[in-house]
Amino acid sequence: MTPEELKFSYKGILYPTVLCSKETFQAMEKLEAREDDVLILTYPKCGTNWTLQILQEMLLAMHNKEPSMDKGMLEFGNPEKYEYLNQEPSPRLLASHISYENIPNTFFEKKTKMLLILRNPKDTAVSYYHFSNKNPVLPTYESWDLFFKDYITGNVIYGSYFDYTVQWEKHIDNGNILVLTFEEMKMDLPKELKKICDFYGLALTDEQIELVQEKTTFSSMKEKSSNTHGDLGNVFFRKGEIGDWKSLFTEEQSKEVDAQFEKYLAGTKLGNMINYKKYCTF
Ligand code: A3P
Repeated sequence: MTPEELKFSYKGILYPTVLCSKETFQAMEKLEAREDDVLILTYPKCGTNWTLQILQEMLLAMHNKEPSMDKGMLEFGNPEKYEYLNQEPSPRLLASHISYENIPNTFFEKKTKMLLILRNPKDTAVSYYHFSNKNPVLPTYESWDLFFKDYITGNVIYGSYFDYTVQWEKHIDNGNILVLTFEEMKMDLPKELKKICDFYGLALTDEQIELVQEKTTFSSMKEKSSNTHGDLGNVFFRKGEIGDWKSLFTEEQSKEVDAQFEKYLAGTKLGNMINYKKYCTF
């Protein structure tokens, strides 16, 4: 498939043709959310697989059995998947990159708790660039500069990082939403794990939390990645660091992201959580 064929637009946002379809989006309204669903929401490359693994380990420790997991994202796959998901036992562990306004209403009706993971926009861009070039279902780019042009204009799959984050900002006080950042998880994972336990009311012991922590470090996850993610293991678990953006960004590109951050997120609650000055200054 050509780069153009690998993406399609639905309600103004680009999605990967191989993984998503209009029919599946339409069928998503059949999904019946539950109060005890665990729903992880992320813009791509912000720590989705990391957080999924954390919740998987926590739910396993809590219930002594693996949670029901959607293979891939909530929006991936064929339209029949939601009927199948409706039959799955609780707790169900779900993740999605869809934007706030496309989250099916059923989750709001059931007051499902949502976990939003943010990552600074520069590291997200670099991670997304490498991922696009290594994952055959995504369009490849001949150069970082070409990717950057699409990223900054929101012409990438799942659209603009800034649009995505700004949408969340408007709803962040609605309750039932816990926001964590990739950077804080990286700096002090046990602290963030405790926040997750409190939020979901998971009464894990200190020993259990320690075990979750050990199993979800970058190195443990990378080591097991060929079992968990097959051939794409090394692609999903690339570096797992903060600040890799400095390896590719030019001064000018850095300023372009600064300007977008200033315009959309500076002074907002989520903007403050991203800790932009600390993580996005050369
Ligand atoms: P890098 O490309 O910067 O290495 P997603 O799961 O949303 O696709 O995000 C992928 C990013 O999260 C990759 O970033 C990956 O290395 C990083 N990641 C995955 N597991 C991690 C972990 N346990 N600790 C730190 N980073 C992790």
